[in-house]
Amino acid sequence: MNYGYFDKDNAEYVITNPRTPVRWINYLGTLAFGGFVDHIGGALICRGDPALNRITKYIPQLPPSYFNGEGLYIRIKKNDGYQLFSPMFVPTLSELDRYEAHVGLGYTRFIGEVYGVLCEIIVFIPNGEEVEIRDIRITNVSDTSLEIDVIPIVEYTHPDALRQFTNADWIPQTMVSRIVEEEGGFKILKQYPFMLRDVRVNYFTSNHPISSFDSDRKYFLGDNGYRNFQNPASLQQAELNNSQANRGDNIAALMHKIGVIEPRDSRRIITQLGQTERVNDLPRVVERYRDEEQVDRAYNDLGMFWQDYLNMMQVVTPNEDMNHMLNIHNPRQCLITKNWSRYLSLYQLGLGDRGIGFRDSSQDVLGVMGFIPDEAIDLVRNLLHVQKCDGSAMHQFNPLTMVGSTGEAGHDAQGFYSDDHLWAVLSVTAYIKETGKLSFLDEEIPFYEKDEAGKVVEKGTVLDHLTRGIEFTRSHVGAHGLPLLGFADWNDTVNLRAGAESVFTACLYGVALLELIELAKHVGDIDLASRWQDYYLEMKTRVNAEAWDGKWYRRYFDSDGSPIGSHQNEHGKIFTNAQSWAVMAGYADKKRGRKALDSVRRFLDTNNGIKLSTPGYDGYDPDKGGVSTYPPGAKENGGIFLHANPWVMIAETILGNGDQAFSYYDKINPVTKNDRIEIHENEPYVYSQNILGDEHPQFGLARNSWLTGTASWMYCTGVMHILGIKPTYEGLQIDPCIPSAWDGFRVQRMFRRTMYKITVNNPEHISKGVKSLLVDGQEISGNVVPIYPEDETHHIEVILGN
Ligand code: NOJ
Repeated sequence: MNYGYFDKDNAEYVITNPRTPVRWINYLGTLAFGGFVDHIGGALICRGDPALNRITKYIPQLPPSYFNGEGLYIRIKKNDGYQLFSPMFVPTLSELDRYEAHVGLGYTRFIGEVYGVLCEIIVFIPNGEEVEIRDIRITNVSDTSLEIDVIPIVEYTHPDALRQFTNADWIPQTMVSRIVEEEGGFKILKQYPFMLRDVRVNYFTSNHPISSFDSDRKYFLGDNGYRNFQNPASLQQAELNNSQANRGDNIAALMHKIGVIEPRDSRRIITQLGQTERVNDLPRVVERYRDEEQVDRAYNDLGMFWQDYLNMMQVVTPNEDMNHMLNIHNPRQCLITKNWSRYLSLYQLGLGDRGIGFRDSSQDVLGVMGFIPDEAIDLVRNLLHVQKCDGSAMHQFNPLTMVGSTGEAGHDAQGFYSDDHLWAVLSVTAYIKETGKLSFLDEEIPFYEKDEAGKVVEKGTVLDHLTRGIEFTRSHVGAHGLPLLGFADWNDTVNLRAGAESVFTACLYGVALLELIELAKHVGDIDLASRWQDYYLEMKTRVNAEAWDGKWYRRYFDSDGSPIGSHQNEHGKIFTNAQSWAVMAGYADKKRGRKALDSVRRFLDTNNGIKLSTPGYDGYDPDKGGVSTYPPGAKENGGIFLHANPWVMIAETILGNGDQAFSYYDKINPVTKNDRIEIHENEPYVYSQNILGDEHPQFGLARNSWLTGTASWMYCTGVMHILGIKPTYEGLQIDPCIPSAWDGFRVQRMFRRTMYKITVNNPEHISKGVKSLLVDGQEISGNVVPIYPEDETHHIEVILGN
């Protein structure tokens, strides 16, 4: 069973059945102004901060049949009243002859047709603008004249999105809507909480005269609000009630009487939802986007932006599903994840103080480094601002205020996460490899602590920040000499008592040290390189001495010194991350590495991906923490946590096993789920965070799509580890590890403003090993293509062989 198809030529996924198992969404704009639109036209829009400046009221917990945030009604005048329908299916739920939601790059284009009326609605936010456009075209495809009204609608939330739900006294008393009349019948419906009247006002308007409106939900619905959005009483009247809300639940419904439309004739209505400073201002963009040509231009510009973005890297492999992901959907998801962190999705509700995660964003930037390295490093800069003087990091921060929070660790006596600060090493080194900008290491960035007057107490260079992170981990070790777990490591949910140690963090520390050793050697600092080499060997020895369990690596040591992730445990016997990361860190020798990864395949692999651990904990255990709040098979408790899957793929490529790496890659590629959506349920065009594991009765069900580290790691795994195209300090390395059945593949990759057009041939059908490398027809030794002057194009031919 499927609900749509991939349209490669238009870079879209086209949903053809509105009754998807769960809502499927697409992102619009950026955090500055944007949010998401779902496949039935509902939208959650905010400006600058979803927690404190949210515009539309969107409640993901409502059944999908409910109106959520925004919608559109069309009605046709009949002798005895009106024929009402919604071209995006919700809220009227009328059966449509044709329904399509084209999930595109930065826009969704809806097509809804019924009763001889064809509607096309493009929803998008112009590049860099703070307004949501809905470009609505109505065509009479019947053979009689039709009199048609178009009624777009928005429901507002109080900007303090959490208080909207926790305070039903203050909130409704403050909410106000006012109509502003303009010449020519145009109107702007403004909305604001009273205290923000002179500073921040939402507005909804269009490019067509408005004959009536409603802004008080109760009047719009009718019967004292006992009617519903599916069939509001006011839409059976000739005009809306012109209600200007003085309090209560504020909406904006605008009646457009577009008149009698002859067969094959069309009309175009363009709505704008935005925010401006004062109630009497005419926002600058309103005039602009009442002009159809400007709207067309803005839509084209959006398309150009994405085309330029994606052209930075394109691949042609023998696997079409991989091509779909690597060329369109995966880089798009990486950019969305970088922009939205875990701020706002159907699962991350953007309420309270969650903000941007240190660990999450440090990884997210890896997926966009090849596209927008300078934007990526701006985010890393912000992250380093919330690193503390001792080298550990605040777990999250609010980008508007730059106020950090300790996350869950705040409730814990240990007060820190063991891994956060180490991830920054990966993002900083990736940036320097991508751009060559070593000067970033010398940039001074304050540490987080402030004095009583709010002034920064200490600054350090970027290199200093990274070094302090390493020193923090080195000096916070437990009884086995392994890093203390603190509240948690990457796995947020295993929360052990003080004194527990993390093998994962030991490995992440090893990977970070390998990066830093390479960097120190590159800049010629031999002393630093050798100090870090000593640190590395010290930890490698400890991990191999203390954490090897016979067939795999253990994952933690509890505060009493007992192992977790060992054959000795009844639950949580083996964890994926200890195996993949021991190989990635180069701690496991070939034999142990193979054994550990074979154990992953034997005990953790399933038809739907690799489980995080097994067997799941069966009952709440406060001594294990959050992991045991889930039933076995869900999320971190033996679920298929997709974020951790690419690490196994990378480890397999390190050991040269391209067939296994690709088989894991293909298994979790969402494109392959398109024909099994009744099991998978989530969008087939993005990675989800988790899939229920085989201990769970709903094995295979995916949840938490879009904002997940799976996006950046799967992208890096696909291009850097399987296709093997990797930026280095010296140039672009080409070292594929592919399925042996492949004859080869092609890649075009912009690197340091030079276009590399790469063809890899695999005549001997091996997985790994570069036999020869030609640059513009000239053979060079090794597998690193040097850095050339900017704006050139070079043709690289690689032959794999023994
Ligand atoms: C989701 C969190 O955002 C991420 O930081 C964490 O690493 C994973 N869950 C695993 O617990």
